[in-house]
Amino acid sequence: MKTYNTVKIEKEGGITWVILNRPEKRNCMSPELHFEMVDVLIELESDPETRVLILTGEGESWCAGQDLKAFFRELDGKPAERRRAEWATHEWRWRHLLTFPVPTIAMVNGYCFGGGFTQLVACDIAIAAEEATFGLSEINFGIFPGGIVSRVIADAMSYRDALYYSLTGDTFDGKQAAEMRLVNYAVPLDKLRDETVKLANKLIDKNPAALRATKEVFKTCRNMDYTHAEEYIGAKLVALRATDPEKGRDEGIKQFIDDKTYRPGLESYQRKE
Ligand code: COA
Repeated sequence: MKTYNTVKIEKEGGITWVILNRPEKRNCMSPELHFEMVDVLIELESDPETRVLILTGEGESWCAGQDLKAFFRELDGKPAERRRAEWATHEWRWRHLLTFPVPTIAMVNGYCFGGGFTQLVACDIAIAAEEATFGLSEINFGIFPGGIVSRVIADAMSYRDALYYSLTGDTFDGKQAAEMRLVNYAVPLDKLRDETVKLANKLIDKNPAALRATKEVFKTCRNMDYTHAEEYIGAKLVALRATDPEKGRDEGIKQFIDDKTYRPGLESYQRKE
């Protein structure tokens, strides 16, 4: 794996940790970070060792949003550079991360502000430290949630919470983020890593082809009408059966109906790995 200036990659037991690595700047996102993240995700998308991706931040912050100096002010009057940086910010977070082929977990260890909400929502699952601090702070520096933040919060926050927090700029903590379902759950900071690894290992035990199809189907058909969704889901089921190397569907049904070795309502079939 290559090395990067603004991102650290660590791999262990099927988990790939992607760690935003500008702790002295609270992991705010500069153009360089965006370009590096495009490269990181393209590399990892075809990496057989990556069974689950965990996105987190070095130090006390998860991501303090866009870099107001390097991404905002320094690109003023430089339309071509701005365009390139905007392409990269959208490309890694909304094109690659949203559709990443293996499950993705946002492990929110600290500050999560503004632009950071985009990759928070792009990840499949999010776990926060109870002590983490979230904020749609744009109103505090005279703008509104830009990029696609105003759009993604409409998916991931309630109507009332999205408007309340983007109008007031008030912060909320990890516990509140869990209560409002912006993250799946929150745990004390000193347990955050262990709990996230536990969840990642649960996912690693599942059939990878079925996992991939599960997230693709869910994310793709959210914006379809029912007729298209039914047709698309039917086609994906056929595609999964045809391409799953471990033939999970046939094996899973056989172990339940014929062998009577497990109950799918309560656990996974026994995979041969
Ligand atoms: N853009 C640019 N620089 C940022 C930044 C951002 N989003 N977030 C933090 N930094 C920089 C600070 O300017 C400071 O740089 P310096 O050491 O060169 O002076 C450094 O990171 C540390 O920040 P500081 O404010 O001193 O740390 P803190 O721990 O006291 O506070 C935050 C942390 C995250 C609460 C605070 O930095 C902050 O409010 N950042 C902006 C968050 C935001 O509104 N983001 C939305 C952008 S879309």
